[in-house]
Amino acid sequence: MNNEGQNETNQVVAEALRPYGTSIFTEMSVLANAHGAVNLSQGFPDFDGPEAIRNKAAEAIKRGPNQYVLSYGIPALREALARKMERFYGISVDPETEITVTGGATEGLCATLLGILEPGDEVILLEPSYETYAPVSAMAGAKIRYVSLEGPEFALPKEKLAEAFNPRTKAIMINNPQNPCCKTFTREELSYIGELCIQYGAYAIGDEVYEHLVYDGREHATLLTIPELKDRCFVISSTAKTFSMTGWKIGYVIAAPALSRAVRMSHQFIIFCGQGPLQEAMAFAIDFPDGYYRELLADYTKKRNRLSDALASLGFQVFPTAGTYYLLVDIRSLGFDDDVSFCRMLTEKAGVAAIPCSCFWNNRSRGRELVRFCFCKKDETLDEAIKRLTAFLGN
Ligand SMILES: Cc1ncc(COP(=O)(O)O)c(C=O)c1O
Repeated sequence: MNNEGQNETNQVVAEALRPYGTSIFTEMSVLANAHGAVNLSQGFPDFDGPEAIRNKAAEAIKRGPNQYVLSYGIPALREALARKMERFYGISVDPETEITVTGGATEGLCATLLGILEPGDEVILLEPSYETYAPVSAMAGAKIRYVSLEGPEFALPKEKLAEAFNPRTKAIMINNPQNPCCKTFTREELSYIGELCIQYGAYAIGDEVYEHLVYDGREHATLLTIPELKDRCFVISSTAKTFSMTGWKIGYVIAAPALSRAVRMSHQFIIFCGQGPLQEAMAFAIDFPDGYYRELLADYTKKRNRLSDALASLGFQVFPTAGTYYLLVDIRSLGFDDDVSFCRMLTEKAGVAAIPCSCFWNNRSRGRELVRFCFCKKDETLDEAIKRLTAFLGN
């Protein structure tokens, strides 16, 4: 696009969105395709979820109806989600008043933030932070306060967080397990956040899309089980990662009835409702026996170890992955210090795409030493990526 075209675009795009540009995930996937690279950038599997789920959806589409469903989700899916919350976390959730089915976690995030924020409210984001939080908060007219997690532990910086809270704080986003740090927050950290929320009358918004990908015997601590946050939190999750169907975009928000009302108010005007036949298939999937969830975790544990060992033997400093399906590495151990040019070079010359992590910070001079690889890929895809990386970086 020439400068004139660019200027025109800048005038058309809403001011709140202008600082954000094209998503890095789109950018890296386009670059990966252009160079025939193995795409370990955007976090989607190169295999589909169980055939039984796809058959259920196909049956439901053939049988119909294929019409609008209840705005906050079909009863069968909300009831399955309520059973799941009882089964995995021992908590009772009312499917009628406390669960809203959304268009992926992404729309759940939008519905929640747009449903509760007023212009001038403040939202606290823990950096590095997933790319949806800041632009959507900005679209709602909120001011963002960033608090940085510092490696290698990425522990909650309690003092800095306490300084960021103030009477205008409306919400804090907590991504647990955290993408891209791949850490899980401890109950103690979450209770500390809960105390601050109580003190300032703020809400905690949990993005828990990787809730079933928590490794090495750890247990996922959903915000809904943190006593301080029980009636002050919105928990957003998704079926995308757990059932390897990222393209279906079925997510949900769980929150106390008064909070769920705010989510449903905005959700009805964003998308109105999701896709009935796919919701029906996901209701079936969520009730899969524990063995399904155990096997998913066992498979991903092997993939994590396979890629992590290979990256470490190539000389990367690899951070431990406690949750998610990503591996975070420090490229300085290989003599590089600019994540964006490193990822471009890797895609174009080595034929492997990864995500430069500075995009997860507001100040892009941060995180330039960090690169994220995803391991939600077939073993042969990971092996091909390892082969290419070894050929390029091996010496
Ligand atoms: C932290 C986080 N939140 C939300 C999403 C998006 O979830 P969905 O596809 O259900 O909208 C992703 C996808 O990668 C993610 O990593």
